[in-house]
Amino acid sequence: MATFQGDLPDLTQTAAPVGENLASVYIETYGCQMNVYDSQAINGLLEGAGYNIVQHDLEADVILLNTCSIRDLAEHKVISRVGELRHRRTKTEMPQPVIGVCGCMAERMGKDLRKGKRRVDLVVGVDNYDTLPGLISKLTAKTIPQHAHERRTVTGHRSDAHYVAPPSLYPINNSHLVTIHKGCDYKCTYCIVPYTRGPQSEKSPEAIIEEISGIVAGGGREVTLLGQNVTAYNWQQNMDFAKLVEEVAEIDGLERIRFLTGHPTDMHPHLMDTIGRLEKVCPWLHVPVQSGSDRVLRRMKRLYTSGQYLEMVDYARQAIPNVTFSTDFIVGFPGETEQDFQDTLEVTRKVKYDQAFCFKYSERPGVPAAKLNDDVPDVEKKRRLAELLAVQEETWNAVADTCVGQVWPGVVEGQAKHQSKPGQDDGQKGPFWRLRTSNNRKIIVSADELKIGAELKARINGYKNTSFLGELQD
Ligand code: SAH
Ligand code: SF4
Ligand code: F3S
Repeated sequence: MATFQGDLPDLTQTAAPVGENLASVYIETYGCQMNVYDSQAINGLLEGAGYNIVQHDLEADVILLNTCSIRDLAEHKVISRVGELRHRRTKTEMPQPVIGVCGCMAERMGKDLRKGKRRVDLVVGVDNYDTLPGLISKLTAKTIPQHAHERRTVTGHRSDAHYVAPPSLYPINNSHLVTIHKGCDYKCTYCIVPYTRGPQSEKSPEAIIEEISGIVAGGGREVTLLGQNVTAYNWQQNMDFAKLVEEVAEIDGLERIRFLTGHPTDMHPHLMDTIGRLEKVCPWLHVPVQSGSDRVLRRMKRLYTSGQYLEMVDYARQAIPNVTFSTDFIVGFPGETEQDFQDTLEVTRKVKYDQAFCFKYSERPGVPAAKLNDDVPDVEKKRRLAELLAVQEETWNAVADTCVGQVWPGVVEGQAKHQSKPGQDDGQKGPFWRLRTSNNRKIIVSADELKIGAELKARINGYKNTSFLGELQD
């Protein structure tokens, strides 16, 4: 595990102002929450350097797309978005913006993004965002011709590049994301992340505590500790994730701690005991199983069997009161047979997940699984995906049915999109608000005005998909 010692470069709030007439920048985010966090950090770096961050692409001189490479489709979306953004300017007879690609695609494709019809002007990988203020300044300077031979592709991993998103910029109402480590050392055979994000490298516990203390000082009450495998956190081999969580829980004024993602092999009994013991740690585990077949799990290099996974779930149910589970699944991995797929359905039925994020296998260039024959036809992948979703829905509905009539505490997160449609009236009128329970269940309630962050109680009357419909109790 790559950790580092000594002084860190200051990648936090500000960079020196880089010139007059600074450009307007619009940032669009794709992919996982690590990218949401990084976009906030980029926002902070650019604002600190004097740039004007805008909320609409047509207002911007510079458009940054913070991208994801996890599946083929995620990359296609971005390439077509570049074409669309260019087209919007041509149509409105506005000057073309500088378009930059950040994030995982920048790292995976590098200079290739600067070629072809949909080429972009700037490519900056995940560990080089501190170069953005200077690069953008050069590309938008009126005195330098746009086609000057500037360095426009900056990629490559730096273990020292731990960015910090300024808490004041964070838009989510009451769960502040805090990235605690980056990269991944697991190398599951299908996955591009170890290549795009590089080796695992931890943010120091001091930096994490300082960041969270800042969030709390600014009024934040809840954090989500983020990483590809937060449970593999091990600062200089002597502070593991359980110990880190204990330290974070000591922060006065912090009320709730969530974390994403847990790797099933790192869910040791002592970690689950710690989660169960600490009141501030929310009883919700996102522990992606990927497949229920031991043969497939071995070929994926997931490091556990379905039996070990189910034992972990059983232990968690004992150790962590009210614990809920969510997962990711991949269907149609190379060589996955109908029996392998049935084993996956079996795990779904046994665990009874609150939520399952299900994906069709997508071959990524250069990863070990790319050498295997992608032999499950797309139509079969689609069928398995639909069947898995149907089994998940059926299993979830049975769980949700047992919740009706219960009264749960939840924290107000904000207004909800839920609408009572004519003919499907659940007896309540808007405006609707969303509460979240500590075990990550959403409850929609109706009320004229609620205070964001307030803890209230709701009686569960029913549910729609994964949201419960509730009624506030006194
Ligand atoms: N670090 C997390 C998840 C990372 S990516 C973990 O270890 O579980 C999020 C999800 O995308 C993965 O859990 C997996 O289900 C899915 N995924 C990753 N690579 C994929 C691929 N090549 N094709 C389809 N889905 C993929
Ligand atoms: Fe990808 Fe596996 Fe690492 Fe998760 S643990 S990011 S799936 S390589
Ligand atoms: Fe996508 Fe990169 Fe996250 S590939 S899922 S944005 S780590």
